[in-house]
Amino acid sequence: MPRGDSGMKIQEIKEEDLNPEEFIEQKVWEISSTVGDHEAINALSGGVDSSVVTALGHKALGDRLKTYFIDNGLMRDGEPERVASLFEGLGVHVEVVDAKERFFEALRGVRDPEDKREAITRAFYRDVFGDLVRRSGIRYLLQGTNYTDVEETVAGIKRQHNVLEQLGIDTERRYGYKVLEPLIQLRKPAIRKLARALGLPEEIWGRPPFPGPALAARVIGEATPERIEIVRRATRIVEEELSGLRPFQCFAILHEDRVTGMRAGRREYGWQIEVRCWDSEDATTASPTRLPYETLLRLADRITGEVPGVVSVTYNITKKPPSTIEAV
Ligand code: XMP
Repeated sequence: MPRGDSGMKIQEIKEEDLNPEEFIEQKVWEISSTVGDHEAINALSGGVDSSVVTALGHKALGDRLKTYFIDNGLMRDGEPERVASLFEGLGVHVEVVDAKERFFEALRGVRDPEDKREAITRAFYRDVFGDLVRRSGIRYLLQGTNYTDVEETVAGIKRQHNVLEQLGIDTERRYGYKVLEPLIQLRKPAIRKLARALGLPEEIWGRPPFPGPALAARVIGEATPERIEIVRRATRIVEEELSGLRPFQCFAILHEDRVTGMRAGRREYGWQIEVRCWDSEDATTASPTRLPYETLLRLADRITGEVPGVVSVTYNITKKPPSTIEAV
């Protein structure tokens, strides 16, 4: 069983055992009593976890919760604007911070998956967020770390970028703020239940997971602005074609090796996109969705036709395990 910040074991609360109203009341109380008259800060990505934390924190602290959307240059098409306007519509002001250059700088020349996660962790917590917190003097960070993040990280499967204290990282000493993690006992289905109970729209509670390292988790090798743009365009097509089937997750991955293709009668040494589409309950195990052949052909035609430089499209047919959901 994973351990929490004070070394105590974290006890999972299963979806069927979760009473959302009582849980909300308890967490609102915990947040208000910890933060007291001070302010807290949080980063909203628009995913269900950070959205629920934003809603809980806002309920507990009102305008004393300062919510930021960090535009790291690694998000999907139109995502920063969409998330900010959705929350503004719910009465939560979201400050969008343009941090694209700092993230690409941190990722320059980084190729190894775990090094990429580490570069993003550092750019996020120490540089961009660290700066915001230091400038504001705020001492509390609300964060949507969940039970699966901790479990997979502690088991050494994959280090989730938001897991800090469970790895022995003292955030107060290293970054100057304390991290509050109200969702640490819950897995995704329970968090979705909470999102509904908090009155968040389906666009939020029904939203497929999207990794913290964002599109950098979907580029094999170096995540440059150009390579992120290729995967961003392919991702848009994959989501347009497959989201209607309501898979657990669907996305594109840009491979590093190029292959020989041909276009307009000429040889083109171009990029390869891999499409993944998953059926899963909670991401611990997953199976590739049995997509109709026609759908696969349409994906290949659109991606090679609409994303410059791509000459090959493949579909992943491996289960998790031994695959993982992301490729990085
Ligand atoms: P894997 O790839 O480990 O993914 O099978 C399990 C679930 O976690 C998401 N994922 C991440 N989320 N930071 C995150 O916030 C990460 O570094 C990360 N890696 C994977 C993945 O999308 C899937 O839902």
